[in-house]
Amino acid sequence: MSAADSPFLRACRCEPVERVPVWFMRQAGRSLPEYRALRGEGSILEAIMRPDLATEITLQPVRRYGVDAAILFSDIVVPVAAIGVGVDVVPGRGPIVAEPFRSAADLSRLRPLEPELDTPYVLETVRNLVRELDVPLIGFAGAPFTVASYLVEGGPSRDFARTKALMHTEPSTWAALVEQLADIALASLRSQVLAGASAVQLFDSWAGALTRDEYQRFVLPATRHVLEGVADLEVPRIHFGVGTGELLDLMAGAGADVVGVDWRVPLGTARERVGPRPALQGNLDPAICLAGFDIAADEARRVLAEAGGRPGHVFNLGHGVLPETDPDVLERIVELVHEEGRAEIEPGAEPAVVSGHAPWPDPTSAGVATAREGTR
Ligand code: CP3
Repeated sequence: MSAADSPFLRACRCEPVERVPVWFMRQAGRSLPEYRALRGEGSILEAIMRPDLATEITLQPVRRYGVDAAILFSDIVVPVAAIGVGVDVVPGRGPIVAEPFRSAADLSRLRPLEPELDTPYVLETVRNLVRELDVPLIGFAGAPFTVASYLVEGGPSRDFARTKALMHTEPSTWAALVEQLADIALASLRSQVLAGASAVQLFDSWAGALTRDEYQRFVLPATRHVLEGVADLEVPRIHFGVGTGELLDLMAGAGADVVGVDWRVPLGTARERVGPRPALQGNLDPAICLAGFDIAADEARRVLAEAGGRPGHVFNLGHGVLPETDPDVLERIVELVHEEGRAEIEPGAEPAVVSGHAPWPDPTSAGVATAREGTR
């Protein structure tokens, strides 16, 4: 099986698979004792700068869980940190920006990212991983809105009040900020794919805080710039956010081959909202994994049932693995999905019909990026 035929890449392209692929956002991290042992106490940004360490941390969950994809060990603030924006990632809190962006003058603190010069360690990690892995590697970047929210708020936020105030009161400053962040995300994603990543995920984790109108006016153009800017590389583009049930169609329309769905919206409902494409990724509630395997297993079966056995489902959590998660539960969820998840359509058979939508288009038809044949 060539890598292009892996269940993960096939599912991203809405092609039939013998078993539903599964990976977990934040699969590398504090829930794994081997991560805590290796990581030590220093800043996560320093760990990311060490390709040997970042390679090993990326591989840990692949070995333990048998997941169908690896996600690069890095962080969404790595590119802005690399161009000199003072940012640290504080355990238990997240990214903290020493001097938050509050006016047009702060835009001069950003410059274009030159990945080979600014983040050579990321590309070395990607190259190491592609040599070692026998499953696809997912590269990623933070979407313009979510990264901007950290720069403007100075850290994590519940209400994004300063960010929303900036977009509404200084729309041209805001537009310039997200355009610059879009170019940075785009340069980073392109470099990761050229170094060997087989898919990319754009994390717009906090976009669910926005109204549809705000999303369309203030966020979508910059996000589309990133997703369309990698289209020619022909790797699946996954677009993810939390609390984005009301935005799923817009996020799909931004240029995604796969849309992430959090646990709030059943996959059947998500499918009705986005239509027959793109593929869907999700959506087991990460908190349910703390209720023990039996309860998590019932919920995982419900997720599979909602996906309906149709092609175009990548099993995942609705958000990242919580640090308190028992790794054994995740290991058994992977087994369950592999044993019970099927998304096959026999060639020539009647495709399934999603309520309210036309039957599935031929997966080979235009409109969906097909991953490059051959080496990936
Ligand atoms: O396994 C993986 O998913 C790959 C690695 C990864 C990390 N961050 C490592 C990390 C990925 C994909 C990210 C993306 C990221 N970083 C996002 C988008 C995904 C999401 O969860 O919505 C966001 C919003 C960030 C910013 C960030 N970095 C937060 C909110 C935190 C958590 C703070 C905490 O400690 O709870 C971080 C730190 C971070 N990034 C950790 C890891 C493994 C944990 C802290 C550590 O080990 O030092």
